Amino acid sequence: MSYNLLKGKRGIIFGALDEKSIAWKVAEKAHDEGATFTLTNAPIAMRMGKINDLAAACNAQVIPADATSMEDLENLFTKSMEILGGPLDFVLHSIGMSPNVRKSRPYGDLNYDWFQKTLDISGLSFHKVMQTADKLDAMNQWGSILALTYIAAQRTFPDYSDMAQAKALLESIARSYGYFFAKKNNVRVNTISQSPTMTTAGSGVGGFDVFFDYAEKMSPLGNATAEDCANYVVMMFSDLTRKVTMQNLMHDGGFSSSGITSELIENLTE
Ligand SMILES: NC(=O)c1ccc[n+]([C@@H]2O[C@H](COP(=O)([O-])OP(=O)(O)OC[C@H]3O[C@@H](n4cnc5c(N)ncnc54)[C@H](O)[C@@H]3O)[C@@H](O)[C@H]2O)c1
Repeated sequence: MSYNLLKGKRGIIFGALDEKSIAWKVAEKAHDEGATFTLTNAPIAMRMGKINDLAAACNAQVIPADATSMEDLENLFTKSMEILGGPLDFVLHSIGMSPNVRKSRPYGDLNYDWFQKTLDISGLSFHKVMQTADKLDAMNQWGSILALTYIAAQRTFPDYSDMAQAKALLESIARSYGYFFAKKNNVRVNTISQSPTMTTAGSGVGGFDVFFDYAEKMSPLGNATAEDCANYVVMMFSDLTRKVTMQNLMHDGGFSSSGITSELIENLTE
């Protein structure tokens, strides 16, 4: 069902790789809710993914950008404003990658060049995105900027490795830039901490299936799906959440507030 929550709003959506991607679901929902936007992903993902299918379905243009490159980001924001006809109302950062996780390096034997890459791609890029938008005056009054994160920023999930540090950095950047963007032109900046979700990035983490099942049993409402997340993102982009800023918003079916659940007790007593 559509409520026209984003009618007339313009934005940029990072990170739609394939139909499992959270950003893919957000693009579909944002389109249904009346938004216009550009889609972007790393140049290499253009070849691997299916972003052009999504672009056709959403009547959106695709602009490749490596989120760690200031030059690419400047081009992305400038072109997006030209194509969409003015400054933006929303930006979704839905980006994550760790070479150490991808190559299963143990936490006690991390490659530090890769660690820096993890931090740059998955954390610092959020600052680069916002600094670019800030310098180009690319955000409209009462705009909304969001990034996706995971609870491993606060609690240890061993297989999440250096991504935990990247997410802690990401969440901290949201609080700091949230202050400056609020003062500048009432733009809000938040992170959404999402349940484990079956996507390319998600299932790259070791033991993901067990991880997913555990979270499902530990969440009184069950895991939040990518579609659930897209609904939440749309609400955060809408005018109904104008005073929510500098927050890490838990979107996890109650996982983060649960100590144990009857499902887990049953499992452990079997
Ligand atoms: N899947 C989960 O379990 C889960 C849980 C909580 C949070 N998240 C977060 O949600 C976000 C989206 O991930 P997803 O699960 O939809 O997986 P996904 O693999 O579909 O999306 C990750 C995206 O990051 C992009 N990316 C990687 N390097 C990039 C770069 N240098 N420049 C631009 N883009 C780049 C990839 O191309 C891909 O589109 C990530 O921030 C992820 O950490 C995922």
